[in-house]
This record gives sequence, C-alpha cells and structure tokens, in this order.
Amino acid sequence: MKKKTHSIPESRNFETTLNAKNTHLFVLENKRGMQITLTDYGARLVSVLVPDKQGNLRDVVLGFDHIDAYIKADEPYYGATIGRFANRIRGGQFTLADGSHYQTTPNQGKDTLHGGAYGFHKRVWDRRVNSIEQEISFFLVSPDGEEGFPGTLSTCVTYRLTDDNEIQISYRAETTKTTVINLTNHAYFNLNGEDNETVLDHHLQIFATHYLPTDQDQLPLGVVAPVEQTPFDFLQPKPIGRDLAAENEQLRIGLGYDHCFVLDQQVSKSENGLKIYRAAMAKAPDSGIRLDVWTSEPAMQLYTTNVFSGKDRGKSGVYYVKNCGFALETQHFPDAPNLPIGPGTVLQPDEIFMSETRYCFSVEK
Ligand code: BGC
Repeated sequence: MKKKTHSIPESRNFETTLNAKNTHLFVLENKRGMQITLTDYGARLVSVLVPDKQGNLRDVVLGFDHIDAYIKADEPYYGATIGRFANRIRGGQFTLADGSHYQTTPNQGKDTLHGGAYGFHKRVWDRRVNSIEQEISFFLVSPDGEEGFPGTLSTCVTYRLTDDNEIQISYRAETTKTTVINLTNHAYFNLNGEDNETVLDHHLQIFATHYLPTDQDQLPLGVVAPVEQTPFDFLQPKPIGRDLAAENEQLRIGLGYDHCFVLDQQVSKSENGLKIYRAAMAKAPDSGIRLDVWTSEPAMQLYTTNVFSGKDRGKSGVYYVKNCGFALETQHFPDAPNLPIGPGTVLQPDEIFMSETRYCFSVEK
C-alpha cells in the first residue's frame, strides 16, 4: 500500500472554458484539516483528503488533477452529479399517468444510462461558494425536452464539509412539467488512497436484506430478491472480494457487483427537515479509514469499477483498473418509471424534489 501524504490539485489546472462557460476548482477545508475539492464541470467531487490512522492525509476518491483529463476520460462519471435520471431506463422510454410517452436518448445499447448522452456530469454548473459555512452550491437549468425528458428542470446540489469530517450532499429540484427524476453522486472510493489498486480487501456492510436482480442488459427484472445465502449479503461487514468468485448468475451478468440494494431504512435521524437512514459502512483495514453512508434515498447501487479499461491515469499517476474503487450510488430504483415496484420517481410542477446523502469519514485504529 502507498503511504505518502496526498495534496489537492492546482486550481489553475481546472480553469478553462467549455460551452462558453468558465470552469473552476473549489476548495473546502474544515477545522480538522480535512480538505475536499470540487469542480463546476459536472458539479463533481475531485478530491477528498482525510487523515488515516497515522494522521497522514489520503485522497480517497478517484479522479484527475486536470480538467482535460475529466473531459477525455474513458469513464466520464468520476465524482460527478448524475441526472436527470441516474442508472438505466429500459429502451429510454416511459409513459406518464396522463398517457404521454417519452423517448430519452439511448446511450447504452437501446437504454438510457445516467441521463443520456449529455447528462448532468458533462455540464458546467453555475455556483455559489460560502466559505464560512464550508459549503458550495451548484445550479443547473435543464431545458424542457433535453435528452428527451419533459419539463424544464432546475436543480441545485449543495456540498457541505462539516467539522465532523462529513460531506453532506443535498439535492433540490423543481420542474415546469410532470417529469421523472433520480439524482445521485458517482464518487468512486478507495479508502487506502486513490493510488492503490484494489478495494477487494475493504470491508463493506450494506443495510439491505433485499436487492434488485437484473436481466442481461442490467435492467431490473422487477422483483425484489433476498440477499440471504447469496454473495449479495453484506448485512455483516465482509471483504468486498470475498464472494466474488462464487458461481452466481447475477455476478456473471454484472461482471461483479453492479446492483441496486433496497435499503432497510431501520436506523434513521432527522435533520434539516429530511429523514436520513443508515445505508452502508466501509473500512480499509490498512489505512484505518472508515466511511459511513447515510441517505434519504430508498436504494443504493454498489458498483466496483468492473469494466474499467485501465486507460484512465489518476491524480497520483496510477492507472485505474478493474476493482480499484467502489461507488455507493444512493438513488431510487433503476428504471423506476417502468417498474411496478418501488417508490415513484415522478416529480410534479407543484412539488419540490429534496434528497440528501452523507459520506461520513472517521478512523479506526
Ligand atoms: C452503473 C454501471 C456503469 C457505470 C458507469 C454505474 O452506476 O451501475 O453499470 O457501468 O455506472 O460508470
């Protein structure tokens, strides 16, 4: 394992113009020395520096030290805000209750993945920084019909870094017409530092007794299956890699874990008017860094960089390969507009969409 102390990227590497908008790097720092950086390109987390058990700062999210690398990357979603609809929509099609039918841009075979070809991760967001509160808000207006989705959608994503080493991400959105929405963050974590090759030794716990098995195209079958006696049982912490070699049809389809877990929502707390639930815990025995995930969302996709090509070269010069990171994407069910199960994803013009996810860091010696 690499032990060096990491540092944040240089701001000037993130200053460019894209689609007539200037891009930037923003730094938030808390009283305990934790530092995170973000860019308005994709309203995305670029780096997360947290102390390990020796007190050295490790950058625990995958990403790059230059905006050009984000634009050219083989994998476009590193650390980004995903919208309008995270995960897949079957055939890029859905019908609303009034019978109106929509076709969204297919960008993975016939299906729409992560909002289509020009998703929120590729957009330069407007921004407002509040350094005192250690927070930054990003704003994006997506016009009616963009990528095939109905309604002009105004979205605000706020990242707050607390003095308890928590990254709190709050989402708020409004629409002018009935639409569907599913927002998430696509950070990939490696709790030993982004320059380490694998997360298979990390211990992971997911508070979910059920998950959503998929078909060959990774669209949910529409059934909720128990995790019991399957490799998807993370109810007690276990190394991510422990059951990966098991004979299992779902692991074969996903080339590993690439599945949505239905959160049990047993442990909750209410803050800022939203109820959030304990979703997951991960820790790396070597660094001692622990991550706890809380969310108001009903489900969470676990994805362990199964199809990484090894072409993307990260901040520390290491090539990102299969299983070098894991994403815990809090969200509603994939393909929810076409599924008879799960909470709805329809947003009406007289409603406000609100959601919150917290990534809470600590150290276990
Ligand atoms: C999906 C994967 C997909 C990846 C793209 C994840 O959210 O679950 O299937 O390959 O995003 O980066």
